[in-house]
Amino acid sequence: MSQIATPDERQDRRNTNALFSENKLKLGLFGPNCDRGCAMTLSDDVPLLTWEYTKQVAQIADRAGFEALVPVARWKEIGRNGFNGRNFDTYTWAAGLASVTDHITLITTSHVQANHPAVAAKAVATIDHISGGRVCLNIVNGWFEPEFKMLGSDFLPHDKRYQYTTEWYELLRKFWTEEEEFDFRGEFFTVEGGYSQPKPIQSPLPAVMNAGGSKTGREFIAKYADAGYVLLAGYDLTTARAQVETRAADAAAAGREVDTWTTAYVVQGDTKEEAQAYLEQVFVEEADMSAGEAAAKYLGLNSSAMEPHQWEEFNLHLRAGYGGYPLVGTADDIAEQLAQLSEIGVAGVSLSFVDFVTGLSRFNADVMPKLEAAGLRKPYAVAGA
Ligand SMILES: Cc1cc2nc3c(=O)[nH]c(=O)nc-3n(C[C@H](O)[C@H](O)[C@H](O)COP(=O)(O)O)c2cc1C
Repeated sequence: MSQIATPDERQDRRNTNALFSENKLKLGLFGPNCDRGCAMTLSDDVPLLTWEYTKQVAQIADRAGFEALVPVARWKEIGRNGFNGRNFDTYTWAAGLASVTDHITLITTSHVQANHPAVAAKAVATIDHISGGRVCLNIVNGWFEPEFKMLGSDFLPHDKRYQYTTEWYELLRKFWTEEEEFDFRGEFFTVEGGYSQPKPIQSPLPAVMNAGGSKTGREFIAKYADAGYVLLAGYDLTTARAQVETRAADAAAAGREVDTWTTAYVVQGDTKEEAQAYLEQVFVEEADMSAGEAAAKYLGLNSSAMEPHQWEEFNLHLRAGYGGYPLVGTADDIAEQLAQLSEIGVAGVSLSFVDFVTGLSRFNADVMPKLEAAGLRKPYAVAGA
């Protein structure tokens, strides 16, 4: 037991964490910690991932009032051309960015197999202190088998993976909340004298996200997460609405409210035709087919599961945005499509771009004012400006 009185440093997370902001449509970025982000292309338009680049991207988003930086948890390249092979660890990346941003929430996308709960709890609490209560733990089970082989952990059968994840998170939460030393005996973990100080800043707990899509994944989200991260893989609003409503019903059945976030890729042009032509150039002519094929293979997807035109369309979205929702067209088109996602109940969208710096700057100049005019977001004033 600690001999030293622990100060109460906790703060209501609604006052510190932008994920709980009042903006009807929250915005994030997906994948700026990885080389080529979500863009499976060989195009020279994509800059190399460096610390300076990712910091610049984070600061542009922060100053525009974005709510979240969502990293991809990745350990190895996908395919043979290096896609995502160069990437920053999500915890230390978030910690570094916490020091150079003021408002945006730093998300640590975490493979449960890669960290002991004591380590993950401590790292998240530390980032919460560095950032003044702006961290979110995004728990993922993973899907890319070569990574698990590299880490030496078993790629458990699907539902067993969620039993592991549940125990992992329940144990982690004890490190966040137990003031006295505790013992824990589960199926996967045994802890004697568990102890972690300081506790996180955010009260009652740091925000938690999960990207599960299966029934067991959705049950995990409904029970434990503040936000579910969903691929709107039907790529039409009717299917997407049904997906979002199912999530809301899951949460209501568990007596909770859970936001639904999704990811979308942005290709903006002065005209629809220009945007469409650029999409074709970067993700068809200059596509990294090897990355797309490997991703589909390890996701367990193949052409037999879909009609040929659906399969082709899905592969384009996979290459252009890790399977995210397409936002392709003029600033008006993109604002309108985001408004539609909001209308079907999506609370937050994390965006990806071919080049985050130029793409995001253009989005902030042209699309953001339209979202504000539509009442989806309040204009953001940089503190002290
Ligand atoms: C929007 C989104 C983002 C994801 N990000 C990652 C990631 O960064 N790293 C990773 O290994 N898996 C990621 N996943 C995949 C999940 O780990 C998981 O394999 C997938 O959601 C399947 O859900 P299930 O576990 O319920 O079957 C992501 C999934 C979604 C939908």
